[in-house]
Amino acid sequence: MASKRNIVITGGAGFIGSHVVRLFVNKYPDYNIINLDKLTYAGNLANLKDIEGRTNYKFVKMDICDFDAFYQLMQDEKIDGVIHLAAESHVDRSIKDPFTFAKTNVMGTLSLLQAAKLYWESLPEKYEGKRFYHISTDEVYGALSMTHPEGIEPPFSTTASSSEHHLAYGEDFFYETTKYNPHSPYSASKAGSDHFVRAFHDTYGMPTIVTNCSNNYGPYQFPEKLIPLFINNIRHRKPLPVYGKGENVRDWLFVEDHARAIDVIFHNGKVAETYNIGGFNEWKNIDIIKVVIKTVDRLLGRREGEDMDLITYVTDRLGHDARYAIDSTKLQRELGWEPSLQFEEGIEKTVKWYLDNQEWMDNITSGDYEKYYEEMYKGK
Ligand code: NAD
Ligand code: TYD
Repeated sequence: MASKRNIVITGGAGFIGSHVVRLFVNKYPDYNIINLDKLTYAGNLANLKDIEGRTNYKFVKMDICDFDAFYQLMQDEKIDGVIHLAAESHVDRSIKDPFTFAKTNVMGTLSLLQAAKLYWESLPEKYEGKRFYHISTDEVYGALSMTHPEGIEPPFSTTASSSEHHLAYGEDFFYETTKYNPHSPYSASKAGSDHFVRAFHDTYGMPTIVTNCSNNYGPYQFPEKLIPLFINNIRHRKPLPVYGKGENVRDWLFVEDHARAIDVIFHNGKVAETYNIGGFNEWKNIDIIKVVIKTVDRLLGRREGEDMDLITYVTDRLGHDARYAIDSTKLQRELGWEPSLQFEEGIEKTVKWYLDNQEWMDNITSGDYEKYYEEMYKGK
């Protein structure tokens, strides 16, 4: 690949996008990195304060659904790589407002694809040296069951992965070949966008890549998602709304490890391939919540576990997927990526970051968001 590249990263002001933008701006001084973001409630330029003055970085406020504006940008900036993260990303919001998810995630992705196609096909070299890399989720695969080997109560150690040792809550995993079976409006909209990306490769020969990652955690995550929401609530001694019995299982990856995987795959991944990204790190919600409570308590100088009584079981999420578990063996084997952090280390780092960055949190959780949050959780 060329040493000079003009890359658009969509959704760069969001949680994962901001880590990807930071990594690329720091690591590739010769690249021209354009962060394209509409700045919805989830977009926050404060996430990128440390790199905002850099000469290889530019922010452009734009809606991914605005075909004309994006087509113009492709031409003006001679874009040869698109790394697409912009999306509506919260399952609870998708249950309340599925239309916005279809519009942004499906139509927005299609709009980017069509503009990229028109621009790249107009060039003499056409698709040579170009990349359209779409970031998706493991949630498109649906939900795994909690089956386990005869006589062994989950979690059990398994050798089903390339990692040396990990605990699993079921015998099956999501593989790149697992059939799509999305359940929530969020995952259905992401599945729709994934299909369009693959269709642009199969129909027009666009050099596309899709990756499906497990749940991310780390700094700069919007505090409507489990981990930052609960850290903030524990700090303020507000109730912790645990959906259902807290038995659902999620597979957690530190966000900087996801950003490193995106870097490796953007540069070395094979066109038209799919890669699963995950750290073989399954947790029941209630177990992770207990770890978070203990860590916050300890770092705030409270008695460890003192805030356990904030746990409040509430009505379950509609259609709540039981278990996600990613098998990322293909990525580890073919491209040599592996997670850098043990979960305990990652959680410590994450809790510390939120406690040290109260101003960032307070700016988000005041004003309009406060009203939205009350509305969202009314009756729970
Ligand atoms: P996020 O909600 O934190 O950020 C989304 C960003 O997209 C925001 O900056 C927002 O302003 C921007 N955006 C939304 N609609 C837009 C539009 N119409 N035009 C331009 N920008 C728009 O999301 P995230 O958690 O960082 O997720 C990023 C991507 O990674 C998403 O595609 C998501 O599906 C995927 N993903 C997330 C996770 C996770 O655990 N968070 C896991 C796997 C995959
Ligand atoms: P979330 O962070 O919304 O991610 P996702 O739905 O994409 O997995 O939720 C993670 C898990 O935590 C999920 O099983 C739902 C649960 N959850 C709660 O129990 N209470 C909450 O307040 C939230 C936001 C999530």
